[in-house]
Amino acid sequence: MAPTVAITGSASGIGAAIAKLYAGKGYNLVLADSSALLSKTTAALQALFPSTPILARETDVTQASELVALKDAALAKFPSLDVVVLNAGTSGNYKMPAEQGGWWGNPDAIRKLYDVNLFGVVNGIHAFLPTLREQAKTETKTTRIIVTGSKQGITNPPGNPVYNSSKAAIRLLAEQLSYELKDESVKVHLLVPGWTYTGLVGGEPGLYSEDVQGKTKPSGAWSPDEVANYLEAGIAKENFFIICPDNETSEEVDKIRMEWSCGDFVTPRLPLSRWRPEYKEEFAKFQAEKLGK
Ligand SMILES: NC(=O)c1ccc[n+]([C@@H]2O[C@H](COP(=O)([O-])OP(=O)(O)OC[C@H]3O[C@@H](n4cnc5c(N)ncnc54)[C@H](O)[C@@H]3O)[C@@H](O)[C@H]2O)c1
Repeated sequence: MAPTVAITGSASGIGAAIAKLYAGKGYNLVLADSSALLSKTTAALQALFPSTPILARETDVTQASELVALKDAALAKFPSLDVVVLNAGTSGNYKMPAEQGGWWGNPDAIRKLYDVNLFGVVNGIHAFLPTLREQAKTETKTTRIIVTGSKQGITNPPGNPVYNSSKAAIRLLAEQLSYELKDESVKVHLLVPGWTYTGLVGGEPGLYSEDVQGKTKPSGAWSPDEVANYLEAGIAKENFFIICPDNETSEEVDKIRMEWSCGDFVTPRLPLSRWRPEYKEEFAKFQAEKLGK
């Protein structure tokens, strides 16, 4: 029996690349997205993998019932469910009008973003976890939940507080879930992409291909396929944190930045110190020492 992967936010970008990765490994695909692009991406994936069975279903991750219906449809078509990737997300990278108080003056906008980035993951865990647990137990196999987080949910840079906090919240939930499941065969992974050229960051939405996209990937960004390959390598090592570098930020620099961020708690420094002028020199020195410069 072929294994099955279900992926939210798979009409585009990283989710579509993860679908490609798993199709290449012989998995059945369950694709879920709220965008009309889903049918185009499904057709493109089917053309690449003609013998892969695919269930594509328009799904809004903000609605718990739609994720339950997705799980039911997946189990009706494919009796095996092995990997669930809770990846749908939105950037919130838009300016809230200053005259309305910015983000702080727009609690409804905050709730809307949390509905996708935070409750999309909560709803996915709610819908799929019982099945993943049961299948891991009764079929003595490993099942997996992969949550797509962000470095912004770890280092909390200025400018997008609501996105950052939504990604910090799902990181904490995934950490807790991983701990809760420590004695079971359901593994949890937090995929943390670096700068990846997708619709979310101004790229062409859909199934990424450098040949057919109208825009050119900036040299500093990774392609979604690079993220999917890094995910595969992280899973092979059974890593919980799968923190991708990109062509601009190395793994080493990421580690230094995360270490500095934790230092804000214990030093203590003011929060977001890395971006405050009064800590500029101190951070530069810290980084240079770590890099052995
Ligand atoms: N691109 C980056 O640099 C980057 C960096 C860090 C984290 N991420 C995260 O990676 C994930 C994937 O983003 P991407 O970069 O591939 O962007 P993308 O825009 O190409 O893909 C996101 C997908 O989520 C779908 N989606 C949005 N709201 C939804 C909803 N309510 N229900 C169902 N689907 C919905 C979109 O339609 C889209 O297909 C996101 O969680 C994002 O926060 C991206």
